[in-house]
Amino acid sequence: MLLAVDQGYGYTKAVAGGKKVVFPSVISPAGETDLGLGKISWGHLVTVRSQSSTVRRQYFVGDLALKCGVAAQLTLARNKLSREISDLLLLTAAYLAGAEGQVTLAYGLPIAYYRHQRDEARRSLQGMAAYVCVDNGPEKYISFGHVAVFPQGVGALFSVDRLPEEGLVGLLDIGFYTTDYLLVEVRKDRVDPLPNYFGSIEIGVSSAMKAFGERFLKVTGRPLSLVEIQELWGRSRITFEGEKLELEPMQNESRIAVAQAIVEGVSAAWAQKSSYVDVIYLAGGGGLEFLPVLRQMLRKDVILVPEPQYANALGFCRMALRQLGVDNRSAGYI
Ligand SMILES: Nc1ncnc2c1ncn2[C@@H]1O[C@H](COP(=O)(O)OP(=O)(O)OP(=O)(O)O)[C@@H](O)[C@H]1O
Ligand SMILES: [Mg+2]
Repeated sequence: MLLAVDQGYGYTKAVAGGKKVVFPSVISPAGETDLGLGKISWGHLVTVRSQSSTVRRQYFVGDLALKCGVAAQLTLARNKLSREISDLLLLTAAYLAGAEGQVTLAYGLPIAYYRHQRDEARRSLQGMAAYVCVDNGPEKYISFGHVAVFPQGVGALFSVDRLPEEGLVGLLDIGFYTTDYLLVEVRKDRVDPLPNYFGSIEIGVSSAMKAFGERFLKVTGRPLSLVEIQELWGRSRITFEGEKLELEPMQNESRIAVAQAIVEGVSAAWAQKSSYVDVIYLAGGGGLEFLPVLRQMLRKDVILVPEPQYANALGFCRMALRQLGVDNRSAGYI
């Protein structure tokens, strides 16, 4: 089985044999869940036992950690995505995507770290094995036999079925905390990434949410936590202390300010090449969020990739199949 995992700072995405999985990249130590009310309908209760140990560890993962985890906030930060946390997110994603036994893993690293961390990531993932149980389902043994590591963003570009036949093609992968960008030159059957024109800026959907939180504080005097902001983001109006409060204008202003910062950051990185870009593909969950404003601001051909949030994972599958020469059917990809 081929499993592709796009480990984002905000959300973990996995694709395997037509199955897709997404959940927030948040974990916390588990608390009591059995209050006799039946199965909890959001998030996941995960039990992991490493191959060499008899100790089972239990965690809340995803929405369950966000809503109920005492220490959830600790992991909802960019710099806190440690190896241990990402291993747990990876195993949860693998289990939910239907993985069992030995699995071939296609895994993505942020484009800015790819060159320096690729080998280390492959070494630490290859051979990793654990017994995993999610939401009281059957315990499964999962191990990563072959591991291929790819840069995020490039994966998203590979998810596009037909790129233009030639020209300069840009890609923006707008995530929760970061925006990865890259430029490629397309000629006939070749796609050549331009070495000095890729990178990452620390702006994403969460920046717009934060700006919205600041506007909310200004208007109401009430500070919001990131979890509260996420709950209000996307709601057009609420009742606040007995009065109707319009949230949409605050969200729009925040979205525009952040889109402007993305455009400035990427234009500076692409420098003079910016003027020659034929088309820009948008990927990442933020691609959906910022498509209308970026279309207006960039005044270029801006195209949303078919499944923006899963684009990297889908592209990693294609790249792994090419690299490993795995037959499509035996890999369970189609
Ligand atoms: N249909 C949608 N419409 C609008 N926004 C969406 C949609 N689907 C997902 N998002 C937003 O996309 C964001 C997450 O995007 P994504 O999964 O690409 O981030 P990530 O890869 O975890 O982040 P990073 O690149 O910083 O590591 C979330 O803020 C989510 O609200
Ligand atoms: Mg991402």
